[in-house]
Amino acid sequence: MPESLLIRDVPPKIKRWIDDEREQSMLSQREYVISVLEKAYNSKARPSLFDAAQHPAPTSPTGTPFTFVDLFAGIGGLRLALERVGGRSVFSCEWDKNAQKTYRAWYGEVPEGDIRKVKIADILDHDILAAGFPCQPFSIAGVSKKKSLGRPHGFKDATQGTLFFHLATIIDAKRPPVLLLENVKNLRSHEKGRTWEVVRSTLETMNYKVFAEVIDAAHWVPQHRERVFIVGFDKSVFGNEPPFRFPTPPTGKRPKLMDILDPNPPERYTLTDHLWKYLQKYAKMHRLKGNGFGYGLADLDGVTRTLSARYYKDGSEILIPQEGKNPRRLTPREAQRLMGFPDHLSVVVSDTQAYRQFGNAVVPLVAEAVAKQISAVLSWQLARAKNRCVFKGRFGKAR
Ligand SMILES: C[S@@+](CC[C@H](N)C(=O)[O-])C[C@H]1O[C@@H](n2cnc3c(N)ncnc32)[C@H](O)[C@@H]1O
Repeated sequence: MPESLLIRDVPPKIKRWIDDEREQSMLSQREYVISVLEKAYNSKARPSLFDAAQHPAPTSPTGTPFTFVDLFAGIGGLRLALERVGGRSVFSCEWDKNAQKTYRAWYGEVPEGDIRKVKIADILDHDILAAGFPCQPFSIAGVSKKKSLGRPHGFKDATQGTLFFHLATIIDAKRPPVLLLENVKNLRSHEKGRTWEVVRSTLETMNYKVFAEVIDAAHWVPQHRERVFIVGFDKSVFGNEPPFRFPTPPTGKRPKLMDILDPNPPERYTLTDHLWKYLQKYAKMHRLKGNGFGYGLADLDGVTRTLSARYYKDGSEILIPQEGKNPRRLTPREAQRLMGFPDHLSVVVSDTQAYRQFGNAVVPLVAEAVAKQISAVLSWQLARAKNRCVFKGRFGKAR
């Protein structure tokens, strides 16, 4: 089969977009164009797993079709990933007005606001619940963990008042067959491991088989960014041992910072003498005290430090060296590429907000690799379920 598909009269900007996208998805031009066309064709009447018994699922190159909700959606890093493997969003929730603005521009939908005010009845049934929930400490004052978590719905005691509590309440009410959660790496070590213990046991108490792994995005994008991905499968649907495995990182050429840099960045991103002197002085002071705080001059041939939501402050964690002048910070467009968000998505907010949004986001390519593994389990389940439906007798109604 030929590796490329000839398309005549494609405008150059569309051609560039196809090239950017297919590189990110690691597909040939032919595979990518066909997957886009199939996705457009299927999106007209794509059933969710809920309807699968009534409408047998088509086999498509993007995997088993499914529906999902995007909670604590940010700018939709998880959404992009799930859409790429055949998912269709039925609900989203994000309270930050600027993130909502980006989400609307990129996906044509304004997410609901504060999750604490969302009515469960407004959330449509879904196959996968995705959430990059903020990590908060859990206070288990007065209730021993064992006592609390050993009981059904014990999370109500253990996590009362936290955002995770609201998430768990939604999971408990909606019973999505699959969970895809994402958090900072130190969720696992936070409060001496107690926070992770509460998260894990809460999900297990709700009858989910829980898988968790820290994954470094540096295999996909030129940024060291470790995040914990938590995947849960409802045991009453998938059994006790669903055949899930986290992805193995791609082998071969690693992405390099220089691949995503703008050759002519605007001058305003170069540090002023004043700020550059201050950062050097601050770093020296900490070196003398024996600790490693300070700015990070990035290696153009390697990967950067983690882009944080506070990058807008001085950009000191990722500075780009420049010949004969002060280093510069990343432009918002470069921050976007460092996170692996495709170029056809335009930045629609101020620089400050853009850095915050990218610094908070999930790297879609990493989430996509995880989502592909989930999709394989959905296909496995669909193939073994006698009624060709992940759910037993439940279809896509809100409840
Ligand atoms: C770590 S970010 C999620 C990033 C997202 N998964 C992405 O890829 O862009 C957490 C998000 O939760 C949002 N958030 C925090 N508290 C919230 C609440 N009470 N209701 C809705 N969203 C909330 C924050 O505004 C932030 O965008």
